[in-house]
Amino acid sequence: MSDEIEFEEEEFTTQFNGQTMLRILAQTKPHWKWVVGFLVTITFVAGLDSYFTFLRKQMIDVGITPGDTAALARIGVIYFVMIFFQAAGVFAFIYLAGVLGERVRYDLRKKTFEHLQDLSLTYYSKTPVGWIISRVTSDTVRIAELVTWGMLDVTWGAVSISTAFVFMLAINWQLALLVLLIIPVLLFVAVTFKQRIIVEFRRVRKINSKITGAYNENITGVRVVKALGREEENLREFGELTGEMYQAGFRAAWLSALFLPAVQIISAVAVGVIIFFGGSQVEQGGLTVGGLAAFISYVTFMLWPIQDLARVYAEMQQSIASAERVFSLIDAVPDVVDQPNAIDPGTISGDIRFDHVDFDYGDGKPVLTDFCLTIKHGEMIALVGPTGGGKSTIVNLLCRFYEPVKGAITIGGQDYRELTLHAIQSRIGMVLQTPHLFSGTVRENIRYGQLTATDEEIEASAKLAGAHDFIVTLEKGYDEPVGEGGNLLSTGQKQLISLARAVLAKPELFILDEATSSVDTLTEALIQRGVETLMKDRTTFVIAHRLSTIKRASRILVIEQGRIAEMGTHAELLRQRGHYYNLYTRQFRHDLSKEYNLFALTGAAVN
Ligand SMILES: Nc1ncnc2c1ncn2[C@@H]1O[C@H](COP(=O)(O)OP(=O)(O)OP(=O)(O)O)[C@@H](O)[C@H]1O
Ligand SMILES: [Mg+2]
Repeated sequence: MSDEIEFEEEEFTTQFNGQTMLRILAQTKPHWKWVVGFLVTITFVAGLDSYFTFLRKQMIDVGITPGDTAALARIGVIYFVMIFFQAAGVFAFIYLAGVLGERVRYDLRKKTFEHLQDLSLTYYSKTPVGWIISRVTSDTVRIAELVTWGMLDVTWGAVSISTAFVFMLAINWQLALLVLLIIPVLLFVAVTFKQRIIVEFRRVRKINSKITGAYNENITGVRVVKALGREEENLREFGELTGEMYQAGFRAAWLSALFLPAVQIISAVAVGVIIFFGGSQVEQGGLTVGGLAAFISYVTFMLWPIQDLARVYAEMQQSIASAERVFSLIDAVPDVVDQPNAIDPGTISGDIRFDHVDFDYGDGKPVLTDFCLTIKHGEMIALVGPTGGGKSTIVNLLCRFYEPVKGAITIGGQDYRELTLHAIQSRIGMVLQTPHLFSGTVRENIRYGQLTATDEEIEASAKLAGAHDFIVTLEKGYDEPVGEGGNLLSTGQKQLISLARAVLAKPELFILDEATSSVDTLTEALIQRGVETLMKDRTTFVIAHRLSTIKRASRILVIEQGRIAEMGTHAELLRQRGHYYNLYTRQFRHDLSKEYNLFALTGAAVN
């Protein structure tokens, strides 16, 4: 998590960008009523604050100085009533801001989440998962905070300062103009300080995340560190990092400590000027005692809105950077999309053809070149061959996770780009080498294949997939939680559950990419039997390194460097004595020698 923050902080500029700001504000458009309510209440509350200072002036000038107790009582009542209104206003705007923030956050999360579902796999292979997750989580929060608490502080600050100024003008305009000179100075100093402070704090955070990373690596890799005697080297690196962090933390503390006194000194100077000029005006009769007191209050009080404005301004740049990242995600265009007239033919059970397909993963390195293959409906095709040969790529193209760069893939004679993605993908059942389960129970994970399935259907699928036997041995059986990503189960068990899930979906096209690579041979044989009944009348692709599982395939394709090196049935290929023969005999020998070792270990006589 820590590294992602680094990634995010360096990626975009933190310059003020008006266009992004407008787009952020546009997020509140659907909730404009809440925005208006919230702005009105906050204006009311901030305006009342200035009015209270004015009331105190009246209290002195109209009540105390002439000794008019009736006027004093009247002012007291107004004060009391207004305080009550203000309290109601404070309640309203905090409530409204909370709701507004929640709504904006919800919208953004929904928008990004929906968009993430549409994005093609190419986006995911280019973009680190951590980056995407920080966009959806922390960045959306920052945007929502800007449009609520940020907007609140800005409105409150602006209204406080301007209403105070209006009252000051009404009391004594010459003195009010003098105060007007102070405001920009205060704002400038406050903004400069706040920005510097934020920069230092960000530096601290960045180094901190590096330190956390270093800790993490040293703890998880402690064996390697010790084995290679790298302790001293690591200590030195660690020392450098903590030193840097200390320096940055020190500067941040220094600046933070300096900030308030600096602003206070400036406003103290302002108060001094007011006492000096205002005092002489009081003597000349141009200003009342209450008026002078009010001026001092206004100027001292102004410190807080100015501080808030400076803080929001400094933070706003970060929120804008957050927004730019979220918008860049929302704006990313999926590579594989439905064409305008795409149709759903209702089935994909026709013959499948790879027609002179060229493909690369966008890096210009060809994976398939002029690849041709025709698969008849109901065939079981097995793909074997060395790692990196292109087997998974072929099925990725078939599922239309990617599309051919050149050439076409046709289903029942129709280019599959004329079909909707849903038409294709909803009819394919796929089990991967690294199966993914969602946190939840075993039953829920299987049901994901067909949401309306009954418990009986789920059990039947689990039996076909060979998963039932191990599921019933779990403490809670089908209701056993699988943990996050299924991490409470072994890889083989996860594969069995994914298989059951695919079986339940009753796909028209079945793809098993190393689906049984992590289960023992006995279980594999069991699955084999179940899956074979299922494969009847269904086109199936099986990718396997363990060749014993594909002997019965209608055709076996040996894929090497993106080409079909050999093709035929098990018997035909053995007769050819080519690649497949070599692969098979090597594995067979290996398996035999394993058995031999087993016998030797158990002390059984081999002969
Ligand atoms: N997402 C990707 N981005 C870029 N290149 C990729 C990507 N996936 C695979 N490749 C490249 O495409 C080639 C074929 O990979 P593929 O995954 O199809 O091999 P495979 O035959 O399935 O191998 P294995 O038996 O190890 O699963 C490899 O050279 C690989 O580096
Ligand atoms: Mg593969």
